[in-house]
Amino acid sequence: MIKTEDLSYKYEDGTIALNDINIDLEKGKCIGLIGANGSGKSTLFLNMMGILKPSKGFIKFKGKRLKYRKKDLREYRKKVGIVFQDPEKQIFYSRVFDDIAFSLRNLNYREKEVKKRVDKSLQMVGGKDLEKKVVHFLSYGQKKRVAIAGSLVMDQEVLLLDEPTSGLDPKMTSQMKAIINELKRDKKLLISSHDMDFIYEICDYIYILKNGEILKEGFSKDIFIQNDILKEAFLETPWLVKVHQTMNIPLYKSEKEFLEKENKKEVQI
Ligand SMILES: Nc1ncnc2c1ncn2[C@@H]1O[C@H](COP(=O)(O)OP(=O)(O)OP(=O)(O)O)[C@@H](O)[C@H]1O
Ligand SMILES: [Mg+2]
Repeated sequence: MIKTEDLSYKYEDGTIALNDINIDLEKGKCIGLIGANGSGKSTLFLNMMGILKPSKGFIKFKGKRLKYRKKDLREYRKKVGIVFQDPEKQIFYSRVFDDIAFSLRNLNYREKEVKKRVDKSLQMVGGKDLEKKVVHFLSYGQKKRVAIAGSLVMDQEVLLLDEPTSGLDPKMTSQMKAIINELKRDKKLLISSHDMDFIYEICDYIYILKNGEILKEGFSKDIFIQNDILKEAFLETPWLVKVHQTMNIPLYKSEKEFLEKENKKEVQI
């Protein structure tokens, strides 16, 4: 799958945004990339998409080094997709339908197949009612959904999601959790977020970035109990872990599990 080997990236103004990054998406099914503002998450996503080219090191996909010719990138992006942090960057057409259909039409898919896939993608993000709308007038959360649907139409093997919940209200955040849990079934996911509760619940393997370097990596259940490491990276401990650490309650993976198990206990008492 995707691997980065000693990847470093320096912007034109001299900012070293990434330094010797080694990431392997084989380590988990759904991988979390966490780190404070400016730690390098989006830069790493752009490198992994081949939008930026590493200053040092390289990307490997299924054991082969990524090449940067137009033709190679086109093939690569049939298998690897991204949802950008800023939905505005992903929106090209004024009508929602056309916008989501863009990449399929670009690859000369038949209009019947285009319609089928756009419908399915909008359904997945709960946005069927948005189909005929003008993108410009949508709310931020609606634009975010359209951007995700725009990636889902391609049905890639790997999906990189840069801050999928930023700017979303609690209802939409929990819908996003459900969407991602659905996607996890048949795709490899790499997700960045500042929402530690969200990452804790949905990811099984974690990379912590700090100042462009990997501060720590490991399984979610091992990483999130290390308060000192999280603090060092300026990150929060998830509430389920806090409850576990302070109230002598088992470490649950999700709010659902917590409520079910703890309610059962109360009934027994
Ligand atoms: N186009 C650019 N030119 C110069 N420096 C940049 C550019 N884009 C990002 N940077 C710098 O690179 C570093 C990493 O930025 P990046 O956007 O990758 O961080 P991030 O972890 O995604 O942050 P956030 O959580 O705020 O989204 C920062 O120091 C940032 O200022
Ligand atoms: Mg970012």
